Amino acid sequence: MSFPKDFLWGGALAANQCEGAYLEDGKGLSQQDVMPKGVRGPVTEEPEPDNLKLIATDFYHRYQEDIALLAKMGFRVFRFSIAWSRIYPRGDEKKPNEKGLAFYDKVIDECLRYGIQPLITLSHYEMPLYLCRTYDGFRSRKVIDFYVTYVRTVMERYHDRVKYWLTFNEINVTLISPLLGAGIMTPKDKLPMKERFQAAHHQLVASAWATKIAREMDPSVKIGCMAASAPRYPMTCGPEDMMAMVTSQQELDYFIHVHCTGTYPYYAKRMWREHGAELKIEEGDWEILKNTVDFVSFSYYSSKVVAADESKYEMANGNIMRGLKNPYVPYSDYNYPIDPEGLRYILNYLCDHFHKPLFVAENGIGAREKLVENNGKMTVMDDYRIDFHREHIAAMERAIEDGVEVWGYTTWAPIDCVSAASAEMEKRYGFVYVDRNQDGSGSLERYEKKSFAWYQRVIATNGAERG
Ligand code: BG6
Repeated sequence: MSFPKDFLWGGALAANQCEGAYLEDGKGLSQQDVMPKGVRGPVTEEPEPDNLKLIATDFYHRYQEDIALLAKMGFRVFRFSIAWSRIYPRGDEKKPNEKGLAFYDKVIDECLRYGIQPLITLSHYEMPLYLCRTYDGFRSRKVIDFYVTYVRTVMERYHDRVKYWLTFNEINVTLISPLLGAGIMTPKDKLPMKERFQAAHHQLVASAWATKIAREMDPSVKIGCMAASAPRYPMTCGPEDMMAMVTSQQELDYFIHVHCTGTYPYYAKRMWREHGAELKIEEGDWEILKNTVDFVSFSYYSSKVVAADESKYEMANGNIMRGLKNPYVPYSDYNYPIDPEGLRYILNYLCDHFHKPLFVAENGIGAREKLVENNGKMTVMDDYRIDFHREHIAAMERAIEDGVEVWGYTTWAPIDCVSAASAEMEKRYGFVYVDRNQDGSGSLERYEKKSFAWYQRVIATNGAERG
């Protein structure tokens, strides 16, 4: 048996992609409400009715039914995020919104009732829109204080019941998509890389504050960082491609390094120099950054191929990050590379570089799906999803056998939700189908897909039965 007996099997969701109820019980707006088409679409002045996230999959009203489904699969952990804008609707209030806090009380208690550990992401691509508009998100140091107030509030309220926390979802995405990652309203093409590095510094300091607060509140709490981690492969064994791979990989490692050591890595100076960045680091920042994480978590969807001269090659598709087409791996419906061995590789790589326990916080396959009748029940015959997870779990098991310490595996996303990159409902990742269509129609009823019973068996046998 390779998986430790207390291995945390489960799944992950994010508030803005599943809750809906966007103005209910005092909730404020967030950047997600003005991104109706996701990262590549326009930013609107006001929320638009065709933004599927306004209702999403209605987790806000159906959390009991959804958590019951997760419990039926045998989940040991449920990763979800708190919507910052439910707790502080504008972001700068003196007092939190009690109704927002009460909602997460109920979600946490519901998980615990079934013996499911909550794993909370403090900020998953979501910040009060007022902070985005007034301060340009994390471009301003001031937002660190608002984040700290928010974190203190939720940790005070929940720390006795929640042992696992993540500070920011995919923090390295700030360099690629500043609005999604750091709430920065200035359009990306008007925001030079040097500004993004500065915003990322503010976010790294904020992240370390969260760790400090968690430790002070309860030393038994486990707090981790979270990064989008496509391992880089060189297109050829030519030395220039190899070096392109190294420098591209460093764009991910940079963030994890700060979280694990409290210092910037040696190559940071080169990166800043190349982008003309002169980071403003205040005296007290170094002290705060010393609050390093207990574990490193990451999302893994696929590897990414890079080359010194990328114009010579065909690009592959990808969500937020794209690489070159890899001729050695198959591709999904969405033309994303499928590379289970890449998960073993990145687990070994991160273990070797950062010497911390690891957590696979997201892994999954998005597909266009239709309900069909099977044995008198409506379902989705998603054998490709079973294959995807089976192979990735096998790769993770090989990494554990290699000696890597892995605490858990939360699939993205156990219940269909609105996609992050394109804000569409059509791209489904769940073991549970939600009857909601791209045009907003649908009953919101839940249906177990074929993969539901498969994952249930995997968890029941602690990963042993994957057939
Ligand atoms: C991760 C995000 O990058 O990818 C999730 O943390 C997201 O929020 C997931 O949903 C899948 O991407 P998408 O765009 O297909 O939903």
